[in-house]
Formats: sequence, C-alpha cells, structure tokens
Amino acid sequence: MPMQEIHYDQYFAQVMRVMASRGLFLTSQTRDGRVNSMIMGWGMIGSVWGRPVWTILVRPSRYTYGLIEQMGDFTISVPGPDLEKACRICGSKSGRDHDKLAEAGLRTVHAKKVQSPVIADCIIHYECRVLHKSDLEPTALIQSIVAGSYPSGDFHRTYWGEIAAAYADTDRLNELKV
Ligand SMILES: Cc1cc2nc3c(=O)[nH]c(=O)nc-3n(C[C@H](O)[C@H](O)[C@H](O)COP(=O)(O)O)c2cc1C
Repeated sequence: MPMQEIHYDQYFAQVMRVMASRGLFLTSQTRDGRVNSMIMGWGMIGSVWGRPVWTILVRPSRYTYGLIEQMGDFTISVPGPDLEKACRICGSKSGRDHDKLAEAGLRTVHAKKVQSPVIADCIIHYECRVLHKSDLEPTALIQSIVAGSYPSGDFHRTYWGEIAAAYADTDRLNELKV
C-alpha cells in the first residue's frame, strides 16, 4: 500500500460522504495494547488553536470511550466499499465482549505518531492526539435533538484530536467517489 502524506483537509468531501454512509473506523486501544474499533458517523474536520483537528462524538456507553480516556489518542480510517461488512460488525458489536477485529477479518498497522494503530486496507488514515474533551450540555441543545438522539441520555462526549499525521493510499482514492 503506497501511503502518501496528505493535507488534513484534502479529500474532505469524500471523507464526509463515506462518514455519512458506511461510517469511518474509530480505533483505540487499552494500555496493554488490546485494540478495538467502532464505527463513527458524526464528526468534524477543522482548524482550531492554529492546529488541524478532528472533533468526534463518543457516547459514554461505548467501550471506545474508556479506551480514549485511558490513552488520549485515537485513529480514524476511511474504508472503501469492500469493507462494508466489517463496518457493520464494528458498528453493532462492542469490544467489551467481542474481538471485533478478528470477527471482521481486519488487520492493523502501527501508527506513525500515536499509540493506537490504524486499520489496514483502508484508503485514508488520520492519527489524532486528544487536545480537549467536553460533554454535550443537554440544556444547551435544542429540544428536538434531545428527544430524537438522546431518549435515554448517554449524551456524547466530544474529543478534539489534533491530527498528528494524515496519509492515503493514493492508488485507491477513486474508490471514494462522491
Ligand atoms: C453508521 C454508524 C455510525 C455511528 N456513529 C457513532 C458515533 O459517531 N458515535 C458513537 O458514539 N457511536 C456511533 N455508532 C455506534 C457505535 O459504532 C456502536 O455502538 C459500536 O458497537 C460501539 O463499539 P464499542 O463498544 O466497541 O466502542 C455508530 C454506528 C453506526 C452503524
């Protein structure tokens, strides 16, 4: 896989559309190196504090939440259409009681700048270090969103991760058609 460094906002439209359809792999690990990946469908790429940042939303009920809390980093990997089945597994089962990577037939590759690895066979990768976290404030959210997205609470925590590295398999970018 000929990975090439990319600018953090390159392929923004493609990444947002994959995120809104099959989702992106959000990968983290325990202190002793047990890796887990969940699917994320909500997030933002932007520039904050003069740094490139991915802001992600993770509910406290996710196994992933505890891992990011422990380690302070995560990676985001953008899957092609060939990984749709793996996306469904990682977006429905929990790493608390499943080895999802084994069940989905996913392999990992060491990251360059953070401890959490990236998911092999994906097309774009971002490595992120948590700069800030904050919980959604229910009283500051419009009522229709509280009712629609949080009927049983479990309000997301947002993690603001500095993008320490971003790279892509440039031979496969055409698979991320918009
Ligand atoms: C398309 C899709 C998008 C999702 N987006 C998010 C998200 O942005 N934040 C979140 O907390 N959960 C999201 N989920 C749910 C988690 O992926 C799911 O609960 C997963 O099983 C959590 O895994 P974990 O317990 O191993 O962390 C999404 C699921 C799907 C299928």
